[in-house]
Order: sequence, then structure tokens, then C-alpha cells
Amino acid sequence: QLKAADAVLIVSPEHNRAMPAAVKNIIDIASRPYGQSVWQGKKVAAITASPGSYGGINSGLQIRQSLQSLGANVLIAPEVFLSRANAALDNGKVADERTAGFLNKFATAFYAWAAE
Ligand SMILES: Cc1cc2nc3c(=O)[nH]c(=O)nc-3n(C[C@H](O)[C@H](O)[C@H](O)COP(=O)(O)O)c2cc1C
Repeated sequence: QLKAADAVLIVSPEHNRAMPAAVKNIIDIASRPYGQSVWQGKKVAAITASPGSYGGINSGLQIRQSLQSLGANVLIAPEVFLSRANAALDNGKVADERTAGFLNKFATAFYAWAAE
């Protein structure tokens, strides 16, 4: 599925100031066998979310760093590190207009980039 995708969007929490082990595992598994990594040249964007104030930014930056080292084409901007995610999202729905605004801005940019 990763191989066939025009672009990949990783949406992740943060675990102990780092990307969760499950996310690292996907990055690692898809990077092998050596020479057949799916990440080489792949368009990838990462969003993080957390109930805390920093929106999982350390996790997001780590995900980018790892993918960049694998030759992925990582979306630089716009960035989303969604803080106070427990209030910003209500039962899976976006709870306020400000959050909806920047998520829509991100989605528009991501889909346009994926289609290039
Ligand atoms: C082991 C563990 C460590 C976590 N560490 C952080 C952290 O360093 N920074 C942060 O913002 N959130 C942290 N969280 C909160 C997660 O980002 C996430 O918002 C929370 O786990 C809710 O998602 P879940 O229901 O899928 O676990 C941690 C959660 C777990 C389970």
C-alpha cells in the first residue's frame, strides 16, 4: 500500500517526548530490504496531536528527521502540531472553527502537493 501511494500522511501522538514505537516500526520495516525502501522519493507529511501544550512536536520533528534520512520528499510546510487535542476534537469531530481553519488549510495544501 505504501509503495502504491502517491503520498503518505502520518498522523501520530507522542510517547515520552519521542515518536511512538509503532510509528518507528513502520518507518523501519518499509525501509528494508536495503535498496528497496518505499521511502526513497516518496511524498510524506506528518501531523502530530497531543492533549498537552506542545502538540507532540518532538514526535513530529523526529518523524521528519528519520524520513529525510531515508530520502523521502517530506512536506516542509504547512506544519500541524495539534495541541490540546482533547478539546480541539470532540468525538472525532473538529470542535472549533480556528482548528477547522488550519486543518483545512493543511488538507488543501497536502492534496494539491500529492497531485503534483
Ligand atoms: C507511554 C505514553 C507516553 C506519552 N508521552 C507523551 C509525551 O511525551 N508528550 C505528549 O504530548 N503526550 C504524551 N502522551 C500522550 C499521547 O500523545 C496521546 O495523546 C495519548 O496517549 C492519547 O492517545 P491514546 O488514547 O491513543 O493513548 C503519552 C502517552 C503514552 C501512552
